[in-house]
Amino acid sequence: MRVIVAKNYEEMSRIAAMEIAKLLYVKPEAILGLATGSTPEGVYKELIELNKENRVDFSRVTTYNLDEYKGLTGDHAQSYRYFMNTRLFNHVNIDKNRSHVPNGVADDFEKECDEYDAAIENAGGIDLQLLGIGRNGHIGFNEPSDFLNLNTHVTDLTEDTIKVNSRFFDNIDEVPTQAITMGLGSIMKAKKIILLASGESKAEIIAKLVEEKISTRIPASMLQVHPNVLVIVDQEAAALLKNTSNDGIEYLK
Ligand code: F6R
Repeated sequence: MRVIVAKNYEEMSRIAAMEIAKLLYVKPEAILGLATGSTPEGVYKELIELNKENRVDFSRVTTYNLDEYKGLTGDHAQSYRYFMNTRLFNHVNIDKNRSHVPNGVADDFEKECDEYDAAIENAGGIDLQLLGIGRNGHIGFNEPSDFLNLNTHVTDLTEDTIKVNSRFFDNIDEVPTQAITMGLGSIMKAKKIILLASGESKAEIIAKLVEEKISTRIPASMLQVHPNVLVIVDQEAAALLKNTSNDGIEYLK
């Protein structure tokens, strides 16, 4: 796990966007795994700019998003499909038929989950997976638990996640209590993973992710065994990292 401590949110976003741009330069037909939430918004803004300047081309890219709220249609303003359309897809030259977000209103969720995993597999697997992290250590909606799921599945959201995500809804009762999410196996199969974290509220979980033992109570800690993970954090999220003997940490001055 390589850790880069960026000066601020903008620099974190720029570094991540450049990593994606570099991949698309050498592999224009790359398969991207994408995340929603506040953290990657800056990356998407950077990518839109790079696309406008013809420095990154999405015309052959395929994308798979990590998750979607169960019960929300793609045109709901808080659905992750709507988020992706408005924050990235509507503004770049991507073929939206090749952009995939799990269907939150599927008739048969078991089938939807199986088909989502099969589609990723058939596409050749994810080349680069972008991740945020919940302050409870979740990635996608793989919440802390005694057991973790390998494959795409429907999951209950924890009270903490519902509370944290209620900031996007008019009131907490409107937050869906379940979501469909890629499992740990689907995420870990990605060839490269970039995890982003910004702000003070992520400092504790970033220290645990980088410095503590692997535990299903911190789902993101599984990333420690992945061979190609880049963690990019800003200085606030890095505040509790012990910058002593950990030579994998690179501080950008
Ligand atoms: C979103 C996702 C979540 C978020 C996490 C952090 O697709 O899978 O795991 O990455 O909840 O959210 P933010 O970035 O809003 O702090």
